[in-house]
Amino acid sequence: MCGIVGYIGDGGARKIIIDGLKRLEYRGYDSAGIALLSEGRIKLRKAAGRIANLEKILENAPVDGHAGIGHTRWATHGAPSDENAHPHTNGDGSIAIVHNGIIENYQELKEWLVREHGITFRSETDSEVVAHLIGVFYKGNLLDAVYDAAAKMRGAYAISAVAAAEPDRIVALRKDAPLIAGIGDGCNFLASDIPALLKYVRTIYLIENNETVLVTQDGITIFNERREKVKRDVFHVSWDADAAEKDGYDHFMLKEIFEQPKGIFETLNRRLDADGRVRLDGISLTKQDLEKIDRVYIVACGTAYHAGLVGKYAIEKFVRIPVEVDVASEFRYREPFVNEKTLLICISQSGETLDTLAALREARAKGARILSVVNVVGSSVARESDDVFYTWAGPEIAVASTKAFTTQLACLYLIALYMGSATGVLPEGEYRRILDELNALPGKLEALLADERTIREVAKKIYKKEQIFFIGRGTDASVALEGSLKLKEISYINSFAIAAGELKHGTIALIEQDTLVVVLATQDRLFEKLLSNIEEVKARGAYVIALAKEGNRKIEKQADDVFYIPACADEVTPVLGVVPLQLLAYHIAKLRGCDIDKPKNLAKSVTVE
Ligand code: G6P
Repeated sequence: MCGIVGYIGDGGARKIIIDGLKRLEYRGYDSAGIALLSEGRIKLRKAAGRIANLEKILENAPVDGHAGIGHTRWATHGAPSDENAHPHTNGDGSIAIVHNGIIENYQELKEWLVREHGITFRSETDSEVVAHLIGVFYKGNLLDAVYDAAAKMRGAYAISAVAAAEPDRIVALRKDAPLIAGIGDGCNFLASDIPALLKYVRTIYLIENNETVLVTQDGITIFNERREKVKRDVFHVSWDADAAEKDGYDHFMLKEIFEQPKGIFETLNRRLDADGRVRLDGISLTKQDLEKIDRVYIVACGTAYHAGLVGKYAIEKFVRIPVEVDVASEFRYREPFVNEKTLLICISQSGETLDTLAALREARAKGARILSVVNVVGSSVARESDDVFYTWAGPEIAVASTKAFTTQLACLYLIALYMGSATGVLPEGEYRRILDELNALPGKLEALLADERTIREVAKKIYKKEQIFFIGRGTDASVALEGSLKLKEISYINSFAIAAGELKHGTIALIEQDTLVVVLATQDRLFEKLLSNIEEVKARGAYVIALAKEGNRKIEKQADDVFYIPACADEVTPVLGVVPLQLLAYHIAKLRGCDIDKPKNLAKSVTVE
């Protein structure tokens, strides 16, 4: 995800583009840049970091123009840096482009550009290929050159381009990545999304896939793949800017909960080839490497730690190798058995959590091999690891982590499958069975999310409680911890999670009349045990909300309310089971009037010890 903005008019392009980019920061915010057309030249400013950094550069070295394109980046190829920030230009700076998405055959195109045209690349991005391609094809008509370049590119992307020799136009192209054009008065606009333009226009064209747009000061022309003009009805936007940024959801957290099917699909898709084998692309964990490993540590904090607890089950089951999971702040200070035979898996959404980073450095110094599961490309954890397995959740804005958690789980399953298969421990039939289960998850998540109303209704009954217990066994115990953390983080209710079998060893003393207990009973093999645990707490007067797998209706006799997740293998229930708990926390916090996206005392990325 990245954000694109374009403007052409009488002047003042810089302010309008920067305003637009700020409204698109939710799409990514690791670097930003702008290319302005003025006096027959393209003037470029870009900077790593938030848009505020770009603004500082613009203050020190001011430029403006009558037209331009801007970009806010969410790194995919190449770390967030000044060089990798967009816009990218061709060799002599006469063409500039911004790009959102991925050019899948960029390596091939890069080699061709170097070989046939002697081009020197300045960045590590796939995007720079687009600038050079357009430059190579440019013969005085930007529209022609964009069509010629697009014929060579494969992938899902949107691009926008300007040429110094044609200051009266911006050309943009959409191929499976969002793009809109805004109709102004004596000026026109382009953007990845509506919020970027709402301050200036409310009448827009929604650009369709494989369409190219020519934007001038006087008009917007849309062409199809065969370069025929397309007639498009205008679209009038009635929502306010805030709602638009959140795609109509009340909060980023809810939007991100609903983005989970896509996140899981992307995360699996990027790592699975057509035969269903896990593609390591750049990760060097060969059979020989794995044979040297005798122990795995997983270290992480908060939600990522809970993902690690589930990862332990998967790796121990599929690879039969001991796995220890530790919170990063503890791992450092307990002299763990780390040496050259250790594989350390670091999990972090932000890749900047200091505790996790410090644990990584500690283990690295002792010779461990570091594999990290990270969402933010080019983050510190990613840079300091031997190998990185990226989650494809897209930017997570809400402080309470949701889609990062489920995509971390998807990565851990893939790592476990790969290791199990490479070492020959996991039989092919089992590999295929789990793979099918993983591939079915996006569809099952969609089905689960469609039933949000049931959870909202239960939230209404319980939102005034001041204490909630979560219990479960096996991976359900890990998901219980995550459900409890979500609730604490955003609703400030005192919640507590414990392995269901451990409850009787002390904590049960706290269960009394009307105590709320959320019982996770999604594992078929442990189902009967959980029924007994329900009996235990009911006998002491508890109100029980249960989570079970579709089909296990027997639980309705004991529990007061039941949420069902779609039927699936026990191994993958955490991906589905956590979703009703995320929604429950969300609706309870909403009913309590809490600031859901920015809870008190918390930060999205904790860079202190
Ligand atoms: C903070 C956040 C948590 C998050 C944890 C780990 O404490 O408030 O929500 O789970 O950091 O963050 P990371 O970016 O390393 O996954």
